[in-house]
Amino acid sequence: MSDLHNKIVFITGASAGIGEACARKFAEHHARLILTARRRSRLEQLAQGLDTDCHIIELDIRDRWAVDEAVNGLPKDWKAVDILVNNAGLGRGLEKLHEGNVDGWEEMIDTNIKGLLYTSRAILPGMVARGSGHVINIGSIAGHEVYPGGNVYCSTKHAVDAITKGMRIDLVDTPIRVSTVDPGLVETEFSEVRFYGDKERAKKVYEGYQPLSADDVAEAVVWIADRPPHVQIAEIIIFPTAQASAMVVDKNN
Ligand SMILES: NC(=O)c1ccc[n+]([C@@H]2O[C@H](COP(=O)([O-])OP(=O)(O)OC[C@H]3O[C@@H](n4cnc5c(N)ncnc54)[C@H](OP(=O)(O)O)[C@@H]3O)[C@@H](O)[C@H]2O)c1
Repeated sequence: MSDLHNKIVFITGASAGIGEACARKFAEHHARLILTARRRSRLEQLAQGLDTDCHIIELDIRDRWAVDEAVNGLPKDWKAVDILVNNAGLGRGLEKLHEGNVDGWEEMIDTNIKGLLYTSRAILPGMVARGSGHVINIGSIAGHEVYPGGNVYCSTKHAVDAITKGMRIDLVDTPIRVSTVDPGLVETEFSEVRFYGDKERAKKVYEGYQPLSADDVAEAVVWIADRPPHVQIAEIIIFPTAQASAMVVDKNN
């Protein structure tokens, strides 16, 4: 039996893409899932199809007090979170910085950096008190490189990289593990959100090569979580085979 059996996994952004795929993969191991996102109906639909215990919380991680309430208000048998998957995040636009949409910047910074911090700050004390836990952040190749128009999104993912490293240092004298999975191009709703619902433009991002699927990334997340307690995978960068760096993608080959 997998070590993940009955483990409590708290996933942010479980209503779509990589977060949803993580929920499905952890469910295959019969982990117990706390599914969070803003779109409750999507979470309910997801939970109905999973053969494991699920607890649903409608949560906007940009709301600091709502995050605290969600974590402090967990029912007794859901409180001892074993694994936190900090996945919720988004990109907005690809404009040059001097032409950028400031509202989009706020959304990215508030979600990708501050939301991840609020969630971690709320859940980590319990892990420290119990002497066990694992935080798995979803970063990006954008946390290692900067690409044209990526200015603010890349800066948020560079922040995730720094926060991951900082957390690992702060928790080194505890049994808690800290990991990050940093993908390249993954076909999800990400580009549709980035281009404010422009499906045609979003589709073009994934044309001419085989991008990663959300499942490909989720498999890495679950593998990391399933290592023995003395093994801490610090970081995995995953590309589609047709991608060599943030900007080098072999299309139409
Ligand atoms: N797709 C890629 O190519 C790619 C590459 C590298 C890294 N990533 C990273 O992977 C993560 C997941 O993205 P994805 O590709 O799976 O995109 P996605 O399909 O758009 O899913 C994003 C998820 O984040 C949730 N979310 C967004 N804002 C939120 C908020 N304020 N509060 C709570 N949940 C929120 C969304 O749920 P609701 O809208 O229901 O709240 C959704 O479940 C992100 O951190 C992204 O930066 C993606």
